[in-house]
Amino acid sequence: MTQTILVTGGTGFIGSHATVALQQAGYRVIIIDNLGNSSLAVLDAIAHITGIRPEFAQGDIRDPETLQLLFRAHKITAVLHFAGLKAVGESTQMPLAYYDNNVHGTVQLLTAMQQAGVRSIVFSSSATVYGDPQKLPLTEDHPRSATNPYGHTKLVVEDMLENLYRSEPDWRIARLRYFNPVGAHPSGLIGEAPQGIPNNLMPYVAQVATGQRPKVQVFGNDYNTPDGTGVRDYIHVMDLAQGHVQALRYCLEKEPELLTVNLGTGTGYSVLDMIRAFEQASGKTIPYDLVARRPGDIAACWADTEMAYQKLGWRAEKGIQEMCDDAWRWEMTRTS
Ligand code: NAD
Ligand code: WQD
Repeated sequence: MTQTILVTGGTGFIGSHATVALQQAGYRVIIIDNLGNSSLAVLDAIAHITGIRPEFAQGDIRDPETLQLLFRAHKITAVLHFAGLKAVGESTQMPLAYYDNNVHGTVQLLTAMQQAGVRSIVFSSSATVYGDPQKLPLTEDHPRSATNPYGHTKLVVEDMLENLYRSEPDWRIARLRYFNPVGAHPSGLIGEAPQGIPNNLMPYVAQVATGQRPKVQVFGNDYNTPDGTGVRDYIHVMDLAQGHVQALRYCLEKEPELLTVNLGTGTGYSVLDMIRAFEQASGKTIPYDLVARRPGDIAACWADTEMAYQKLGWRAEKGIQEMCDDAWRWEMTRTS
């Protein structure tokens, strides 16, 4: 029988790609999203790619009635929980909004799941929980810390899920720590659509390539890295989406467990590597200035990927050129 998965934040960047992967793996998807950082057009695009329009409830996970109605109306097997706010800088300006959406929102979601007897959840955590790495690659047992409210909300939710699992060991919980998700679906129909000035490197680079912004500011070239610029583990969003399908399968098929897994490629690339790969993808020259470090940034970060492979049989397959090619195709579609 087809299993129904509730995807919170499913019209957002990662949730929309995960929805495509879930539908293609044979799951039925219901999305709940308040459209705070996404749009309804995503639903048509998903329908175009998969041939199936996911069911959609416009609503907020902080609203218990909306959640209760959803759980009553559908026989939901598991939840993939993407909904939340994600801008590090903004989180220092409006911390309460971050605790409200990310922590309180998750409390409401878990409470509704508990009431409905739904005990399987895959949660979007982040490599930000590792703080400044003490050693690389980052293994899941690396000490955790947070330097900003956004990161702290991820720590709190990770802890909350652990507390829940200890008190009710029949829960099946995956805490997936994403590294730096980039790229887009190869169709060019869905991708990342930041509002205003992008905070993250790759959407910013894409907007410089299209001429929407004049230059990239490269934050720091005096790090202890091969070319002095920051090194990150960029992961194609479709690889990430597939990681979710495999984490979901694991949760549903194995004994109840609290699973914590990195989703990264295991390889780090510098800011200049990424700019060069995007130049290749777009055929454009991407002007940049070397400027001061961004406060709070770390020098380098990449994942140890063994746990993901051992537990989920999952490895990322796409390299940075494919990430940039697909991001460029999406940028062309959305700006045309
Ligand atoms: P996104 O902003 O594109 O998607 C989040 C979606 O959640 C949006 O569509 C938004 O409208 C919705 N949403 C937010 N608050 C909501 C609420 N209270 N009720 C209902 N819907 C709500 O972000 P994304 O990049 O797809 O990130 C998804 C998740 O992954 C987030 O939890 C984020 O913290 C986490 N994450 C993202 C990254 C990244 O770099 N993109 C890295 C690590 C972890
Ligand atoms: C990547 C590299 C910058 C912009 C953030 C969050 C993290 C996670 C992913 C959610 C760094 C450099 C950037 C620019 C630049 N999100 N850069 N010029 O900081 O690794 O991670 O997103 O969980 O929590 O902190 O990603 O894309 O912002 O930066 O030189 O205009 O690009 O210094 O080295 P980051 P990013």
